[in-house]
Amino acid sequence: MSSLLFNMGFSVNWSWFAALSCLLSMGGEVWCDCTDTGMQMEGGSYTLTKQLQKGSMLVYQCPSGYYPYPTLVRLCQLDNTWRPAPKRFSPQRCKRVECPDPNVLEYGNVSPPQEKYYVDNETTYECYSGYTMRGSSTRVCLPNGKWSGSTPICSRDSGDHCADPGIPAGASRTGNIFGIDDRVRYTCNGNLFLVGSSERVCQENGQWTGKEPACYYKHTYDTPLEVSEAFGSSIKDTLTTLESTDDTQEGRKIRIPKNGTLNIYIAVDISESIEKEHFINARDAVTKLITKISSFSVTPNYEILFFSADIIGVVNILDFLDGKAILSNVKNTLEKFEVGDNNTAGTDLNAVFEHFLERMAIIKQRAGPEGFKEHRHVLIVFTDGAYNMGGSPEPTVKKIKNMVYMNHTTERETQSREEFLDIYVFAIGAEIYDDDLQPLTAGIGKHYFRMKDIENLQETFDEIIDEEEVKGLCGLHKEYDTYDKDSKRKMYPWWAYIIVQNERPKRCLGSLVSPKFILTAAHCFTFGDLPEHVTVEINDEQGRVKKVKDFKLHPNYNVNAKAELGVKEFYDYDVALIQLEKDVRISSSVRPICIPCTQETSDALQLVGESTCKQQEQLLLKNHLEKLNFLTKIGDSVDEKEVHAKLGDNRDDCIRHALQAPGITTDNPKVPVTDNFMCTGGLTPFRDHIACTGDSGGAVFKNYQHRTIQVGMVSWGTKNLCKAGGMVESVESSRDFHMNLFRVVPFLKSVLGNDTQDDYAPLQFLEN
Ligand SMILES: *[C@@H]1O[C@H](CO)[C@@H](O)[C@H](O)[C@H]1NC(C)=O
Ligand SMILES: *[C@@H]1O[C@H](CO)[C@@H](O)[C@H](O)[C@H]1NC(C)=O
Ligand SMILES: *[C@@H]1O[C@H](CO)[C@@H](O)[C@H](O)[C@H]1NC(C)=O
Ligand SMILES: *[C@@H]1O[C@H](CO)[C@@H](O)[C@H](O)[C@H]1NC(C)=O
Ligand SMILES: *[C@@H]1O[C@H](CO)[C@@H](O)[C@H](O)[C@H]1NC(C)=O
Repeated sequence: MSSLLFNMGFSVNWSWFAALSCLLSMGGEVWCDCTDTGMQMEGGSYTLTKQLQKGSMLVYQCPSGYYPYPTLVRLCQLDNTWRPAPKRFSPQRCKRVECPDPNVLEYGNVSPPQEKYYVDNETTYECYSGYTMRGSSTRVCLPNGKWSGSTPICSRDSGDHCADPGIPAGASRTGNIFGIDDRVRYTCNGNLFLVGSSERVCQENGQWTGKEPACYYKHTYDTPLEVSEAFGSSIKDTLTTLESTDDTQEGRKIRIPKNGTLNIYIAVDISESIEKEHFINARDAVTKLITKISSFSVTPNYEILFFSADIIGVVNILDFLDGKAILSNVKNTLEKFEVGDNNTAGTDLNAVFEHFLERMAIIKQRAGPEGFKEHRHVLIVFTDGAYNMGGSPEPTVKKIKNMVYMNHTTERETQSREEFLDIYVFAIGAEIYDDDLQPLTAGIGKHYFRMKDIENLQETFDEIIDEEEVKGLCGLHKEYDTYDKDSKRKMYPWWAYIIVQNERPKRCLGSLVSPKFILTAAHCFTFGDLPEHVTVEINDEQGRVKKVKDFKLHPNYNVNAKAELGVKEFYDYDVALIQLEKDVRISSSVRPICIPCTQETSDALQLVGESTCKQQEQLLLKNHLEKLNFLTKIGDSVDEKEVHAKLGDNRDDCIRHALQAPGITTDNPKVPVTDNFMCTGGLTPFRDHIACTGDSGGAVFKNYQHRTIQVGMVSWGTKNLCKAGGMVESVESSRDFHMNLFRVVPFLKSVLGNDTQDDYAPLQFLEN
């Protein structure tokens, strides 16, 4: 895997004739050094893996933004010649890196139009009229030969089932119909090769299978940041879907268990005379990775091995199954592990997969066929892909897939099992055997990474899993019996205080719904208010007062809409989203609440498989009388009010009290109180609290198995019983009306789920 091992790949092709001629010419003594005369490179340098001995590899290096041309490496063969041989008429030099051709955009223009695009060249993209753009409208050619941002796609709403998947730079696509089961196929043009899914299928859920492919040059590597983002988000998905969220630091213990077992198998290529330094880098990177994974409450079982011609096992997964292994010992074992003299001149990649397959068979035998279904397997292999013994690992990988996919063959059947198997390949080296390695990957999303060396790997893994993000699971909170300010903050880590300081200062509550967004009431704003008039207070480690970048009111909110119909102030669609300038720092004191119809909320509600908005609503608002809570600000902390939403048959009686509100002259309560509101208040069957001035915009929420879900938002009431705020109880006829968030999902989704911007990570909303 380090540059030292590449000779193994070439050894496959070593010519015995060459060896023989060398042997004879040297009079029976094999003594064939290559020569370094004339190997210098214009504008760059080279390193040798084993000086000028046979099997040594010469690896060229160029400054950032350049690549070695016409070849990246040369190998010293047995007959003391280099392969490929240097060519007199094409001297080795550093060439400026190009990016793949972006002029593959359909239904739009690329400017400037050029035949070739080099590092730092900027391109802009525009769609023809009638077409709208997704992806980046401006892209810059990066030093690794990739374009910044994401593929621009111009499409128009043609009622297709799946969205136009676009065409990545440098690629061609066949397939222009995007209905269920339709396929698109990609190839890369010229001397580019394809990384990712060469074929994608439009699925029933409106998503394409696989992941957008990209066209790489032989000299294209993934940056550490790209690797940590892609691998990090993928492994995080695996871990968070299995995570038993556990909070044991203070107060009561909160545990949200998930069943299933995670098995992680790691293999590191150390073939032939591995230099100590490279081996240590690899070993430390693996240690870092398992340390990072241990910051989740998932406790995986590990199999860890190093390999060349032989397998050198370091950690045995069966010890985990027997309960004999613990993580701290694994790290100790790894740290103490040194390569002995047993690294041979060979690389057997197939043996690695066979070894893993055997382990899986034992696990299956012990767990039984039913139990084994709950096991997830993550295989992580670090190699350059050069093997010279054992044959291709592809058939063995197929057996592994069969075992985990339970012999399912059709795409649809396989999909249901896909999340149970991930095979990641970290292809590392100056010469990578992409064609051999890419087919070994498995799983959803990017599983193939190309890196030049192992040096940055530890750093890459360090960035992969940010513990703070793990705490970002929506609605997670602590539960205390004590009521000081700090514990309140952790009980309601999403609550925010909003001040709009224009002509007449207004104060509202709000809820953090993502690291950049606060949900509040539209009526907290008046015409003429600007983002600079608004401040949000939520105390993370970076300070209490947050600057606001923008705010958006629901487009249908119009307080005067029913003035003619006897409703002086009409509060339908009373919701607004405030976008902060910067992400808040997520911690146990500052964390988003769950909102309706997101995938995260389905996870919080433990809805497995494909879930719907309706299922969420049925779980959360299932009774005709649903106990809900909202907050009121007391000093610089909050108190919790308790109310009962009158739903179903109880609703009509509840909302009729709306007619007593000042400014309402209609005699039909459904005119001011549309179906978008929930009604609380009154004395029967329970005496509710009443919303006070200043409670507006706050979350109306419900706790479901230790996660907080916001179902409503405090909007307006019939009686102003508490101008000064506080914990005030309802009288017989006082009623409050709260926006039902399930009725304003399109608005929430349009802003929070917006995936055509680069400012924030969009929340994932459910399709139905
Ligand atoms: C693109 O990059 C090349 C090489 O650096 C440079 O000569 C050319 O001017 C650039 N083109 C534009 C439009 O910036
Ligand atoms: C895990 O959950 C599934 C469905 O929720 C259930 O059928 C299965 O028996 C559970 N397995 C274990 C080991 O608890
Ligand atoms: C490899 O070397 C180590 C340390 O010298 C030794 O303990 C181990 O048994 C050897 N493994 C094989 C497969 O030869
Ligand atoms: C899958 O197929 C293999 C080979 O045909 C067979 O040995 C195995 O029992 C099958 N597994 C299942 C779960 O059906
Ligand atoms: C989504 O983001 C894009 C790019 O910033 C913006 O043009 C568009 O208006 C946004 N959509 C909504 C509904 O905010």
